[in-house]
Amino acid sequence: MTEAIDPGLPIRPADQPARLDALEAAVRDRTNLRPVVGLVLGSGLGGLAADVEDAVAIPFDDLPGWPAATAPGHAGRLLLGRLAGVPVVALQGRFHVYEGNDPGLVVQPVLLFRRLGAGIVVLTNAAGGVNPDYRPGTLMLIDDHLNLTGRTPLLGGNADAIGPRFQDLVDAWSPRLRERLRSAADGEGVTLEEGVYAGLLGPQFETPAEVRMLRALGADAVGMSTVLECIAARWAGLEVCGVSLITNAGAGYTGQPLTHEEVLASGAEAGPRLARVIRRFVSGLGEAAT
Ligand code: HPA
Repeated sequence: MTEAIDPGLPIRPADQPARLDALEAAVRDRTNLRPVVGLVLGSGLGGLAADVEDAVAIPFDDLPGWPAATAPGHAGRLLLGRLAGVPVVALQGRFHVYEGNDPGLVVQPVLLFRRLGAGIVVLTNAAGGVNPDYRPGTLMLIDDHLNLTGRTPLLGGNADAIGPRFQDLVDAWSPRLRERLRSAADGEGVTLEEGVYAGLLGPQFETPAEVRMLRALGADAVGMSTVLECIAARWAGLEVCGVSLITNAGAGYTGQPLTHEEVLASGAEAGPRLARVIRRFVSGLGEAAT
């Protein structure tokens, strides 16, 4: 429906309010649902979308300024509906910088979540295991991140109406929500490890030397998303939590090449386990809200 979009054009913080006005209006043309929580469903977690009841599904390219998602394994739809009875907005797929998207576009979904009324965002992703104990299939609660993309969504004139110029990132990964995710995992009998997510630009996987460097820097998992979304979500005042699904051992640990197919296959196995945890977590938020 939309005219051709160049997703690489710089979007500064100061440009976001007008863009969010248009996005919010496009969503409100279709539904009045006010989500409590926003979910970003990464590779392997798209299945959770099927659990969203009475969903209004909006393809990315029906939203003003959004290109269609292109990464394999990413459907590219915004869903508004109920999960375990709780109003949610879910992003099935996401924008990555490695696709040529400007950081300001990559973070628009979480900024839109905030506009639509959500106070909490859950970020999920597929990641490589940098901690050698984190084998494929491990679920890792993110307790902090390393932004090694060299990019930020907060570059350029600020939008004080959304958030401050100098955003604090201490406890960016909410201790309160981490505790709730741990209880949800306990309740489901699912093991959750915990650690630091290193976000790199990609799209190439790391060299073995880079994985050793990441370990030395304190990373437990590595991926190509999530950190910019966390930064923007904190800027906009959202509480943030997230889980990495470890789909493969970090480059060099097994002597085998890494493939995207391996990443998708592990996601298919562990995704439903993570989906159970998130569903229980969301259901608990509904109880807290009543
Ligand atoms: N590296 C970076 N991103 C990833 C990986 C990895 O090993 N696995 C899944 N996403």
